[in-house]
Amino acid sequence: MNEISVRVFSSSANVGSGFDIFAVATDAFSEILTLKYSKSSGTKIVVRFNGDSVEPLKNTAGYAIHRVTNDLQIKGRIEVKTIKEIPPGMGLGSSAASSAASVFAINSLLDLGLKDSDLIRYSMIGDSVASGSGHADNVSASLFGGFELVTGNNLMKPYKIPVNIDLFFLIVIPKIRIDQKTMKARMIIPGSISRDAHVTNLGYFASLLYGLMNGDRDSISDGLNDSFAERSRIVLYPYLDDLRKVSLEHFSLGAFLSGAGPSVSIVCDGKTDMQGLRPGIDNVMRKYGLDYYTKECKTAGGISIE
Ligand code: HSE
Repeated sequence: MNEISVRVFSSSANVGSGFDIFAVATDAFSEILTLKYSKSSGTKIVVRFNGDSVEPLKNTAGYAIHRVTNDLQIKGRIEVKTIKEIPPGMGLGSSAASSAASVFAINSLLDLGLKDSDLIRYSMIGDSVASGSGHADNVSASLFGGFELVTGNNLMKPYKIPVNIDLFFLIVIPKIRIDQKTMKARMIIPGSISRDAHVTNLGYFASLLYGLMNGDRDSISDGLNDSFAERSRIVLYPYLDDLRKVSLEHFSLGAFLSGAGPSVSIVCDGKTDMQGLRPGIDNVMRKYGLDYYTKECKTAGGISIE
């Protein structure tokens, strides 16, 4: 019997203007995934989440392992156990983390030699069980850590963006449950956008990268805006603009919908008035009648072997 345990962190995708190609790993939450392998003539995958057995093919980690073992003709019994701490359905990359951790774990344990782009691809395939359609942003941030750019759904090249500014995040996590949330939140985004929206969004994203790499606060603030994806989702999350307004009033760099929501990440630095910001958030969430909690966190690294 062979066994490996890995730690994986939560992530916030899109970061304003980087819909589906940009995400940041955060130490808000993490989880440990243990993968055991034993030889056998057939292939059997067993998945346990917090002690409960789950159907492997309906689960992001189990499905990712199924695809890897199927494609690489790996025979054996594979048991995946996760102690989940990342809350599911909150836009914090919970399903992506499990998928990425399982692919990373089997690749390391069985020395499969998968390239970074394969790790991303299999992790994304696993994650699509939860989101309904593939997006590589959360899995890339979970796999490699930091602010991670991943070039589209075909190339799958990851780039870690060097960040020259000391940032932290205050994540507002509303206690809202939307059934099949990511699927719904993706379906309301228009399939095509106008030339103006494209130019505006590309400008925001360029500002975001420039700002992070050069430690330019104003450019980051501009880049935390979005001209189509987050805008379309405001119907699901009407508190977003008020949270952004209050966060800017208290000298944060801005706020963005974390992935497909409902959480909102407020990007802060040493200039942010945290004392004033917290009651401001409270007023907004009360106005919308929402229970919530917050989590202050920093950028996290990628998956590590425990
Ligand atoms: N980029 C994805 C989306 C992330 O916004 O739908 C989902 O967590």
